[in-house]
Amino acid sequence: MANAVTAGGAQAEQLAAQFRQIYGCGPAVVCRAPGRVNLIGEHTDYNGGFVLPAAIRLSTWVAAAPRQDGVLAARSDEMPGAVHVRLHDRFERSHLWTDYVTGVAQALRQFGVPLGAASLLVRSDVPLGAGLSSSASLEMAVACSLLEVAQHPLPPETLAGICRTAENEYVGASCGIMDQFVAGVGREGCAVFLDCRSLRYEYVPLPADVCLVMCNSMVKHSVAGGEYGRRRAQCEEALALLRAELPDVESLRDVTPEQFARCERFLPELLRKRARHVIAENERVLQSVAALRSADWARLGELMQASHQSLRDDFEVSCPELDLLVEYARAQPGVLGARMTGGGFGGCTVNLVRSESVARFRDAVARQYEGATGRAPAIYISQAADGLQRVI
Ligand code: GLA
Repeated sequence: MANAVTAGGAQAEQLAAQFRQIYGCGPAVVCRAPGRVNLIGEHTDYNGGFVLPAAIRLSTWVAAAPRQDGVLAARSDEMPGAVHVRLHDRFERSHLWTDYVTGVAQALRQFGVPLGAASLLVRSDVPLGAGLSSSASLEMAVACSLLEVAQHPLPPETLAGICRTAENEYVGASCGIMDQFVAGVGREGCAVFLDCRSLRYEYVPLPADVCLVMCNSMVKHSVAGGEYGRRRAQCEEALALLRAELPDVESLRDVTPEQFARCERFLPELLRKRARHVIAENERVLQSVAALRSADWARLGELMQASHQSLRDDFEVSCPELDLLVEYARAQPGVLGARMTGGGFGGCTVNLVRSESVARFRDAVARQYEGATGRAPAIYISQAADGLQRVI
């Protein structure tokens, strides 16, 4: 852990030095927000259900200082484009990373925060488009730094909601609350068991000798964005049909497996599959929390496997590359569980791997995946990390 803190501190120091070179003054604040990996509970957040993600060490850092000219400015060495807008003007969308910055500023303003003019510098080691929530970590780090500059701190749970609004309404991506929330409240060594309806959450400790290993398939199929919206719409349609039979149900999360068994015949095949995934996945999250708490690794592994199969066959958001990564992972020693993670259609798998087996796991999975697909996977190894924090 000491290494991670030092590495994070070093990132912040370097960013502060670069900030000085660019803006001619030191930053007043540097904030860090992590990426995330979801252990189980996929496509349940926007159905009012349960999720079990963890924050990871890969993070976004934002350095910020107030300025006097009424301008919000932001840049990054790593990505093209920059923000330079008058704070009280209407911001136009640019379809670049800069939309996350202006989107967060607008959502904060809409929430009633008296924002001040500020210069921002952004750096991130969360890979883009890998399903590890680079966008939520950017939003949360930007929000934290703008609030610190405005001397108007808000709790991370509140910030998560504001950043989700930024992404839904200003960036135009219809995500649920999971990514921003865990980036806000993540805790070292723990997964976050979150009820996405009440937003109540509990920390579930992960064993110290188990690593979170993320294998990046290095593909992001172009259907991803549109299919995400389509899945959301299909869940809503399934809910509407089920409500004709079960009028007390508010979201798919309220439908018990027994009720579903009685009512599934009222749904057309496609919607039946979508609803079956969500209803069973919610149960799997509850059972995974119990398995983790009782150190029942065999059960946890089965639940992660069942989740992957359900995402592949019923929710249809996996892809051949993710299926291969899961297949190779499961054949390795020291693997407690493996499945696709995040929205799907590419991105990463999540693997719970005993520390002593991690090096061998990484080599074997990388070799087999590259042999089969011609793509070298990026493999990230992390412990569960802390959420949003002011570093400087
Ligand atoms: C993306 C979204 C999340 C969640 C997952 C699927 O990561 O941003 O809100 O819906 O997909 O579980």
